[in-house]
Amino acid sequence: MNTWWERRLDELEALEGYPVPEADELSEGKLDANENVLLARSLLTALAQRAVEALDPRFYAVEDARALVRDLGRHLGIDAAHIVLGSGGDQLIDLVARTFLEAGATAVTIAPTYSFYRIRCALVGARVIEVPLREDFSLDLEALRRMAHGARVLFLCSPNNPTGNQFPLAEVEQLAREFSGLLVVDEAYVEFAAETALPLLARSANVILLRTFSKAFGLAGMRLGYLLAPPRLSRIFAEKVQYPYPVNAFAVRLARLLLDAYDEVRASIEIVKREREWLRAELRALGVRAFPSQANFVLFEVGDQARAVWRHLAEHGLRVKYVGEVLGYGACLRATVGPRETNRALIARIREVLG
Ligand SMILES: Cc1ncc(COP(=O)(O)O)c(C=O)c1O
Repeated sequence: MNTWWERRLDELEALEGYPVPEADELSEGKLDANENVLLARSLLTALAQRAVEALDPRFYAVEDARALVRDLGRHLGIDAAHIVLGSGGDQLIDLVARTFLEAGATAVTIAPTYSFYRIRCALVGARVIEVPLREDFSLDLEALRRMAHGARVLFLCSPNNPTGNQFPLAEVEQLAREFSGLLVVDEAYVEFAAETALPLLARSANVILLRTFSKAFGLAGMRLGYLLAPPRLSRIFAEKVQYPYPVNAFAVRLARLLLDAYDEVRASIEIVKREREWLRAELRALGVRAFPSQANFVLFEVGDQARAVWRHLAEHGLRVKYVGEVLGYGACLRATVGPRETNRALIARIREVLG
């Protein structure tokens, strides 16, 4: 006879886990997790040294965390009352799932998209409906409207991982208006995109935005993200839902220094955007379908050759993400945009397989 906790362990064992990328040695050939390798490591090291010197790790970083929230408010041009810090976007996704969902409740998302929404909803026992994008990766608003009826939370990743496209603000706003639950817009990649859903904060009471320092800001290892929501929701999140000290003092201090050096971040974003277009053009020149991207990665279709290309790249120190079949397309790979030299190597190695 199994005990309750053994039965619970059986249930948990059956759940899908997040596929953490291979732990290769860190290098600029690591193109599988959309980190920003175009932000100079030397800048971050110099700022990290200043952060260490300024920091007294014996204390909780209460005042510094408040200052970071104020700095972020200024950076985004919004009232700091909208902002709640978290230990990466993932921790905030988890909090949203745990706060607003429960066993038997329904959440909706698109497909394909970032798998962590589905994984976290499953952990609390919620049902997740995945509404496929249309073949051009646009939103099927009609299907979303139908499937989201009665759901509590709708997770919308924009720009979307792994397709790379951003959904038009007017459509996101329409979704927010028509949906009776909470619309979570994950803007992990928004710094690389043309627009943002930020204006909806002032217009839609049911919109939560998620942001991260892991992508454009180059701080994936620091585990820092933030949520933007109407002030009542963000106040309740900060006071009742989020941990008392969710972000470590070092990450907070480093993020503040990096916001002061935002010109460097902006410059790296511009390089990413330029390199992204270069990469797409080169892939197309190889006869490979490379989808448009508003993020720091490119999704491309290699069909039957996908496994061989993936393996050949890995053997030469280039680690990309194997995505598999996407909607009506053949198997796809997703490559983070790297520096020109790495992108050039990527193209050369793909050419070696495709001939
Ligand atoms: C769409 C999306 N949201 C959130 C995250 C999580 O980022 P982090 O927890 O590092 O802030 C990622 C990371 O890959 C992502 O792709």
